[in-house]
Amino acid sequence: MGLTGSPDEQPSEMLTPRRTWLSRMSSIVMGIGLTLGYGMFGTVLGWFLYPARASSRTWQFLTDLGSFAIGDSVTYEAPAGQKIVVTRLTDKGVPEDFIALSSICPHLGCQVHWESNNDRFFCPCHNGAFDKAGQPVSGPPKDSNKPLPRYLLKVENGLLFIEVPMEALV
Ligand code: FES
Repeated sequence: MGLTGSPDEQPSEMLTPRRTWLSRMSSIVMGIGLTLGYGMFGTVLGWFLYPARASSRTWQFLTDLGSFAIGDSVTYEAPAGQKIVVTRLTDKGVPEDFIALSSICPHLGCQVHWESNNDRFFCPCHNGAFDKAGQPVSGPPKDSNKPLPRYLLKVENGLLFIEVPMEALV
């Protein structure tokens, strides 16, 4: 019986070190693969659960208070592309005079606009309506209880600023 035959023909004392080495190597490779796989999964899960909010939001200048009358409404596009409707509801010189809401309807994504005569935001696609705080009051958004996302505002030295994300949502 020679050493060049099939593994079944080789003496078991010569196969044992090779089998042990192969077994250890496959365990090491499998361990590295599992570590990388779980590590990647953990990283992606971390991005999903804890998005980098602090560094990805910024304050943007909108307008001066004097040029924005009660009932006026403007559509603003954030640097990352979010379309936002900003409406003036009162005249006290504070951020609460205004409301900034996403102008994208949460039903199927049509453009929402402010109707000052009806005191509501309206989506013409399926007659969806929202009150002045962005809460759904009729149509498909009411059925699914989906409000318009709201953005923070602040007033400094008579100027109005809005806090917006710098990165698009995925
Ligand atoms: S897309 Fe606005 S109500 Fe359907």
